[in-house]
Amino acid sequence: MISTMQTVLLCAGSMLSSSLVCPPTAVTLDAVQNAPVPTLIVMPPRPSVNETKLEKVPDAGHPFVPPGLKDQRGPCPALNTLANHGYLPHTGVVHLEQIINATREGFNMDYDLAAFLGSFLMLARGNPEYNLLSIGGEDEQVPSLPVKVDGKCPRGGLAKHGRFEGDVSMTREDAELGDDRNFQDNLYDQFLTFIGKYGDDSKVTGPNSLVNLQVMKHFKYQRFVDEQMRNPKLSFHASRLASSYNEAAFILKFFANGTDETLTVSSLGSIFRNQSFAPNWWRRASPGDLNLIASTASDINPPNTPFFVKPGENKDGKYVEDDMSDYKCDTGYYDFVYHNLPHTYDEISRGSDILGRNVKLLLENIARPFNCGTYKVVPNGPIDPDGKCERSD
Ligand code: HEM
Repeated sequence: MISTMQTVLLCAGSMLSSSLVCPPTAVTLDAVQNAPVPTLIVMPPRPSVNETKLEKVPDAGHPFVPPGLKDQRGPCPALNTLANHGYLPHTGVVHLEQIINATREGFNMDYDLAAFLGSFLMLARGNPEYNLLSIGGEDEQVPSLPVKVDGKCPRGGLAKHGRFEGDVSMTREDAELGDDRNFQDNLYDQFLTFIGKYGDDSKVTGPNSLVNLQVMKHFKYQRFVDEQMRNPKLSFHASRLASSYNEAAFILKFFANGTDETLTVSSLGSIFRNQSFAPNWWRRASPGDLNLIASTASDINPPNTPFFVKPGENKDGKYVEDDMSDYKCDTGYYDFVYHNLPHTYDEISRGSDILGRNVKLLLENIARPFNCGTYKVVPNGPIDPDGKCERSD
C-alpha cells in the first residue's frame, strides 16, 4: 500500500512498541526520498560556442508561470525571471550548477562570472554542504549549517541583508529604511525619470525611450546621494560598491536585446516589474564576462569626474571613505572574501569531507575571474552574531 498511499511510518517497530518508545510520526515517502543529503559539487561542463550564441529567450519549453506562495523570490530581478520561466527550479531553491547553466541559457552570462556570483552566494547565504541555496528568503528546504561554521542564525538566502544584499540598490530600499527585497515603484519611477531625461531616441519606441550609459551614470549617482543623506547606517564598502555598479552594468549588457543591443523601457519593465522576459527578446550574442562588466561599471562610476563614488560608510551622518591600502589584487574581491565570508571557512576548506571540498571549490570559483595568479584571499569575516539573526522572509 505504500506506493499508493505514498506514506511510511518512520519507526520500524511502531506497531509493536508503545507510543512512549516511538511516537506515531508519519512522514510522506516523497519527503524521505527527497530529503537533501550532503552533496559533492560537480562543476557543469563549460559551454560550447554553439551554446552561447544569439538566441530567442524564452524558448517554447520555458513559458512564464507566476510564483506560488511558497516559491522563493528576492532582490535579483534576473534570477527571479529565470525561476518564473523554469530555467531555474520554480521553487527558487537551487544548486550552483543550475545557476551557472540558467544564467547562460537566459542571459548569456559568462561561465566564470556566474560561477563566482553563485559560489559567493552559496558560501554567504546558502548551504555549501548540501549545495542548496534560496534565491529569496529563508527556506525549510535549505538545511542549517553546523553552529560552529556560521553561528546560530539561519542561512537566510539571497534576500538576507549583509554580505551580498546591500545598500544603494536601484529598485529596492536600503534595509535600514524599508523593503530591501521587493520591487519598489517609487524607486523605479526615479529610474524612468532619468530615462526620460537622458535616454536615447528610437524610431520604434519614441524619444528618450532607450536606456543608455548616461541614464545609468546619472541614476546611480542620484541613488548614492539620496541614500547617503537618508541612511545613517549606509554601508558601501568595496565589495558592495562593486556589486552595486556591476548590477547597473548588468542592466546595460544583459537586459539589452541581443538583436540590436538596445534596451527599451518596456523590456526593462518586463524584467523588473513582471519578472518575465519581454516579447521578441533575444539574449546577447556572446558571453558577458567580468571584464566587460567591470569596464562598463567603471564607465557608470567614472574616476576623476564629479560622479565618482569611492567605497566607504556613513559615520555620524558623514560619508567616510575606506582606507584600502592593504587590500591586495582587486579591492572588491578582497573585501568580498576577507571581510564578508566567515573566518571558519579557511580551516574548513582544508578538510577532506564534503563540506571542506565544496568550500575549497567555491573559494576557487570566486578567485578565478579576478586573475590574481597564485594569490588567494582567505575568509576572515565574523560568523553571524548569535541572537541578532536578521530575518529575510
Ligand atoms: C549568477 C548569479 C547571480 C547572483 C548570485 C545574483 C545575486 C544578486 C543579489 C544578491 C542582488 C541584490 C543586490 C542588492 O542588494 O541590490 C542582485 C541584484 C541584481 N541582479 Fe543579480 N545575481 C545573479 C545573476 C544576475 C544576472 C544574470 C543578472 C542580469 C542578467 C543580474 C542582475 C541583477 C540586477 C540588475 C540587480 C539589481 C537590482 C536592483 O538594484 O534593484 N543578476 N543580484
